[in-house]
Amino acid sequence: MSILVTGGAGYIGSHMVHKLLNDGHRTIVLDNLSTGNFWAVPNEAVFVKGDVGNQELVEKVIKQYNVDSIIHFAGSVIVPESVVDPLGYYENNTVKSRSLIEVAINTEVKNFIFSSTAAVYGMPKSPMVSETDLTDPISPYGSSKLMTEMMLRDTSIAHDFKYIALRYFNVAGADPENKIGQATPNATHLIKVACQVSLGLRPKLSVFGNDFDTVDGTGVRDYIHVVDLVSAHYDALNYLKEGGQSQIFNCGYGHGFSVLEVIEAIKEISGVDFKVEFTKRRDGDPAALVANTTKIRAVLNWKPNYNDLNLIVRHALNWEQKLLNLAEIFPNQGSNSTDVI
Ligand code: UD1
Repeated sequence: MSILVTGGAGYIGSHMVHKLLNDGHRTIVLDNLSTGNFWAVPNEAVFVKGDVGNQELVEKVIKQYNVDSIIHFAGSVIVPESVVDPLGYYENNTVKSRSLIEVAINTEVKNFIFSSTAAVYGMPKSPMVSETDLTDPISPYGSSKLMTEMMLRDTSIAHDFKYIALRYFNVAGADPENKIGQATPNATHLIKVACQVSLGLRPKLSVFGNDFDTVDGTGVRDYIHVVDLVSAHYDALNYLKEGGQSQIFNCGYGHGFSVLEVIEAIKEISGVDFKVEFTKRRDGDPAALVANTTKIRAVLNWKPNYNDLNLIVRHALNWEQKLLNLAEIFPNQGSNSTDVI
């Protein structure tokens, strides 16, 4: 039996693949390399270059490698981009997920872990949200993911098929051993952008709004270390394999930091007093968004190990430094590539 990881060459997916391989699982990566990187996939994984929407290919891979579980990361993740290109987001995140789910049903894959997002909550009434709270996304990104959650729910009722949707809050940090991290070009996420500013790769950091109803007027978010997020996927898969039922879980730590608090941590750890400017609010940014994590802790017994903003920032910064020399550090790997398209 093996596990298919779609988007396994991407930021979170590649951390997942490392974890699965370390724990002895046969791991198949399916990635079209539109934003992922081949060097992020370890040689021990089987790598298939291709698109998750290609049903013929996915079916072939599932049968060939006897896949019994799918962890589905592949998709588009930039909120402002989704506003400009809604149909592209519905195609990548919704239509292709439907296609993948259909193949999973037809090939009798029983377990499915899905990367969802806190963006499904939209502008929540109170800063801390639970899985049962109203979902009312305000971006095509959030809607595209929520629709996939709905398809999974309905499919799991109609078929012998179980899923877990993990609603990510703000994922950050990198592999503590600094082997992999976030390498997507033109990233918009606060911690990555601020690390780049501290390294002189960008001239300044813009703070989007300081008139929110929060501790210091700037946006508050629940930042979760990528390794803890991966362990939530791992626990979720084990839970399903041991007979657990389909579930939706928030993935965060249950407390938030403001933009200014994050900047302070990055200045302190980098030792660079970089330039910060205040600009107007970004469209669609809620004041505060923090995960109620009671459910995931109770049901999966999930125990995070990196619940520390300074550690998240240190790992993110180490990775940005390493990325500067990426070409030297990651010579081309290629022995395990099955280039099918
Ligand atoms: C959003 C999504 C999240 C998704 C992520 C992926 C929502 C509610 N959340 O997170 O689900 O996984 O995008 O793209 O839609 N900020 C600045 N300056 C910057 C960058 C960010 O001030 O240069 C501020 C933002 O205004 C916000 C905080 O930092 O208050 C975090 O922003 P960001 O890292 O972009 O993530 P979200 O928008 O919270």
